Amino acid sequence: MRRRGSVAKAHAFCLVELKAELEMKGRMEQQRGLLLLLLGLQLLLMGAFLYKNHHHHDLTSFLRFLIQDKTEVGQELPFVVQGSSPGLPQQDVYSNISQIHHVDISRENLPNCPIISPYLSGPLKVMIPENLTMEQMVEKNPLVKLGGQYQPPDCWTQHHTAVVVPYYGQAKHLQHLLYHLHPFLQRQQLHYAIYVVNQVNNTIFNRGKLRNVGFWEAMQEEDWDCVFFHDVNLLPEDNRNLYICDIFPAHVSVAIDKFNYKLPYRGYLGGVFALRPVHYLRINGFPNTYWGWDREDDDIAARLKLSGMFLSRPHLLFGRYHMLEEGLDPSHKQSPESPGFLGPIQHRWQHDGANSLGYRLLSKELQPLYTNLTVDISVSAPGAPVPS
Ligand SMILES: *[C@@H]1O[C@H](CO)[C@@H](O)[C@H](O)[C@H]1NC(C)=O
Ligand SMILES: *[C@@H]1O[C@H](CO)[C@@H](O)[C@H](O)[C@H]1NC(C)=O
Ligand SMILES: *[C@@H]1O[C@H](CO)[C@@H](O)[C@H](O)[C@H]1NC(C)=O
Ligand SMILES: *[C@@H]1O[C@H](CO)[C@@H](O)[C@H](O)[C@H]1NC(C)=O
Repeated sequence: MRRRGSVAKAHAFCLVELKAELEMKGRMEQQRGLLLLLLGLQLLLMGAFLYKNHHHHDLTSFLRFLIQDKTEVGQELPFVVQGSSPGLPQQDVYSNISQIHHVDISRENLPNCPIISPYLSGPLKVMIPENLTMEQMVEKNPLVKLGGQYQPPDCWTQHHTAVVVPYYGQAKHLQHLLYHLHPFLQRQQLHYAIYVVNQVNNTIFNRGKLRNVGFWEAMQEEDWDCVFFHDVNLLPEDNRNLYICDIFPAHVSVAIDKFNYKLPYRGYLGGVFALRPVHYLRINGFPNTYWGWDREDDDIAARLKLSGMFLSRPHLLFGRYHMLEEGLDPSHKQSPESPGFLGPIQHRWQHDGANSLGYRLLSKELQPLYTNLTVDISVSAPGAPVPS
């Protein structure tokens, strides 16, 4: 399937509509989030009492610790902790995946998926077979539909996640990512799809803009409630790293092997970043103006702060990733183009992002394991401020 020569998209009007719709959903989500937060706090209080009884610890200092933990932007809000188990044996991500299969019940009568998927296996070994072919990969993932979309065959899930992968010709990396990520996500019982945003015309790699394109194209296809922006060279190493969205935007790749499984620096926001569509619009997406520059972290951090949001991060034990060799990545061969003087972010973020996105969709191909969105991003939106 192809859609050729779509016009450059200014889509200001649609953006407003989408925004209104999402904001309403967002409010509902927020209320739900607040309830959950209260519930969580109650549980923590109960926990604190038990803790106090058993260990004679001071409850107020425990509470102060909790409250402190919540007030600073960029603080870590761990996901549901399911027990740290670094000693667990590592599993192949494909082990027993064939246990997931269709059941003899019509779709509308399927039960809801359990809160915790029974297929979660914890730590994973990253194992890519030698001489892997696309045919073998398709064979290993029989339940994935054209375009790289998947729904659990045996239950209804609440989670709808789009995975957006900016791409610049790293074919080997992409193959390895697809091989590993499909079973990883199927184990989590998500409804998901993988969108590869393929930059052509040999302009310099622009991750922020490709992310924006991927968001927009994915949202036009499905009502995703969570978008994971995923570098092509990162493979998750723990299945408890759930690809669902939090009540805050999340930096997910917190522990990469190349950086000794910790943040290379405190403000690091690269790799894998996840947020709800309503949050995406609130930060006005990602900057379109960073050509070949990996220095988007400060920009993204400022967007979160200026739009009044916290950053969430998974536990270091769960947010573990293997980074594929950079030598294979052609995007690193090019010299970055200095964005020039961009002006302070406070004046810029509301004009550079989702609302100033211009691109041409050259083709959209539904491949067996992904949707290939080939775009020319050298065009700018009509009426949008031209980056200096
Ligand atoms: C896979 O299946 C085998 C046999 O059914 C079982 O012993 C093993 O624990 C399973 N492993 C996982 C990860 O579910
Ligand atoms: C992979 O291909 C190489 C070269 O074609 C061959 O020498 C090697 O035996 C193959 N490996 C496997 C596991 O098939
Ligand atoms: C980009 O590439 C496409 C297809 O090769 C071509 O039609 C288009 O004119 C190119 N755009 C620019 C700005 O070079
Ligand atoms: C995506 O589609 C374009 C246009 O057909 C093609 O040139 C490119 O190789 C494809 N990329 C991938 C990763 O499939």
